[in-house]
Amino acid sequence: MRPPSPPSTPPREEPALYAFAEADDITYQLETLQRLLDPTTRMVLDSLDTPTGQEWLEIGYGLGSIARELSRRIGPSGAVHATDLSARSVSAPTGGAPIHTFPLDLRTDSLPPRPFLGIHGRLVLLHIPERREILTRLVDALEPGGVLVLEDWFCPTAPRVLNCADPTDAKIFTEVVEGVLAVLRNRGADLEWAASTHEAFAEAGLTGIRAVRTEPDCAGPGPAHRLYACNARQLRPQLQALGVADELLDRFQEIVVQPDLVTTGWRLISTVGTKPGKH
Ligand SMILES: C[S@@+](CC[C@H](N)C(=O)[O-])C[C@H]1O[C@@H](n2cnc3c(N)ncnc32)[C@H](O)[C@@H]1O
Repeated sequence: MRPPSPPSTPPREEPALYAFAEADDITYQLETLQRLLDPTTRMVLDSLDTPTGQEWLEIGYGLGSIARELSRRIGPSGAVHATDLSARSVSAPTGGAPIHTFPLDLRTDSLPPRPFLGIHGRLVLLHIPERREILTRLVDALEPGGVLVLEDWFCPTAPRVLNCADPTDAKIFTEVVEGVLAVLRNRGADLEWAASTHEAFAEAGLTGIRAVRTEPDCAGPGPAHRLYACNARQLRPQLQALGVADELLDRFQEIVVQPDLVTTGWRLISTVGTKPGKH
């Protein structure tokens, strides 16, 4: 007779881990992102009322260039609170607001209880499956009259190759970037989420919603192509597991630095909404 089987405990559901949480080259990746996207983010921040003296929250701050940008704009009488999975310190610029960094996992940790007059996050919610629930909590953390600014790439497919000397190389470029996107999807990223932010902001009760869409072409070994190269190196084992051949991964590193390579960019959608009420 077989012994009775032990009572089965349902497997605990682990939240999906950020695809680059354990990747090498993170500093280089984040520097490249900043070089690529900070000009657009500055332009979006320019369109807001001057936040002098306010308290802002920066989520998933990476290397902190936007926390520093906010600090500069807010000035010494306000404060910037900056969170990420692990908290590296970010120095405030001279004359800027103090920057308080602290570790926080948006999937599982509570946001700080203080109300903020502004919250900004770039390329964060796109990666996290619990994004809609997090959005509700971000809105709760805003003071009435406060603004939420979220920026994410709309990137369901590889950029189109507009110019490449060798058609085989163009195919390799597409195949490897599609592989990177598949790895991100397997980790819970929603590569079309950016297109739903307007509707998600409205559902969360925000008003005055507007979006800026930025989609520049990328040429030669510029930051966008360097970022793809970096991502393909960081995710090499996962790409191999998906069946992308080593020769393609090696050739990809050479293709992305070719001076004549031109591709369309991913569309960065920067969405701004205001919590109803006065501050
Ligand atoms: C693509 S990087 C963008 C960094 C920075 N916002 C920028 O645009 O330069 C995504 C950032 O989100 C952070 N992140 C990912 N999952 C997170 C989570 N569950 N909670 C908090 N931060 C998270 C990562 O650690 C990383 O710093």
